[in-house]
Amino acid sequence: MKTLLTQEEYWNKVAEEKELTTPLPLEVFKKNVPVNARILDVGCGYGRTLHELYEAGYTALSGIDISRKMIARGRRQYPQLDLKQYEGTRLPFEDDSFDAVLLLAVLTCILEDVLQEQLLAEIHRVLRKDGVISINDFLLNSDQRNVERYQRYEKKYNEYGIFELREGVAFRHHSRARIDKLTSSFTPIIFDSVVYTTMNGHKSKGLYFLGRCGKETGGPIGSAKEAACVWRKRGKSFLRNSGLISRSLWLKQFRCPCHLQRVGCLFDLLFLIELSGN
Ligand SMILES: C[S@@+](CC[C@H](N)C(=O)[O-])C[C@H]1O[C@@H](n2cnc3c(N)ncnc32)[C@H](O)[C@@H]1O
Repeated sequence: MKTLLTQEEYWNKVAEEKELTTPLPLEVFKKNVPVNARILDVGCGYGRTLHELYEAGYTALSGIDISRKMIARGRRQYPQLDLKQYEGTRLPFEDDSFDAVLLLAVLTCILEDVLQEQLLAEIHRVLRKDGVISINDFLLNSDQRNVERYQRYEKKYNEYGIFELREGVAFRHHSRARIDKLTSSFTPIIFDSVVYTTMNGHKSKGLYFLGRCGKETGGPIGSAKEAACVWRKRGKSFLRNSGLISRSLWLKQFRCPCHLQRVGCLFDLLFLIELSGN
């Protein structure tokens, strides 16, 4: 069986040959994002959309991508742009650094729910309050070619919509419910269902989402802030109703994912301090 390439390996391999296609609706974007806005393009590829924004008069433009070779092509093709390679985990920017973030045809490259959610949480963090997110991506299709490949790989990935290409890489198409969940910490300005031509010349259903980042209402999905909020509410009533119980029992009761346990520890302490003060 042929081993799949990682996304980084794949995009490095095809960086010089692929022409990327899904468009940014410029007029709509311009109406919602002023020309002096600080804009970050996450998964910018070779920077074609940032270049379009540059031509439209935007100047504070940054792009970031996991593919070293995409970035190298972008720097060569559009030397005026600020493009950087990163590891694909934490965005290397301070909180509230940007007025707008682009995420164009990137979710399709991230197969796991949790990694998609982490990326959205990171974008939420680096966007200022009322900043704008602009997403385009692919939706599930119902034509025979797509349905067959979704079905073929459903068992392997435990997800309908993920499929492998002969080029040795896997991509994901999304249900509307999945996109709604991913964008739930942003207030929608626009949600359009569209048809895109893919980089391999096929037609696919897609979406265009423009949303605003409200920072006071809850937090981004999957974030430590959201988890802490839920924990706080549940933990308080649980402790009140049942007295002090051991931490391990509590973790079990609420099935807290491991990576949140450290955050949880801190909040445990705060609950106890607060309760003892009541
Ligand atoms: C289909 S291309 C789109 C590029 C660009 N957004 C465009 O529309 O021209 C997907 C890009 O996302 C990048 N990518 C994949 N996973 C990523 C991740 N987790 N974080 C950042 N970039 C990622 C790939 O390296 C690739 O350049």
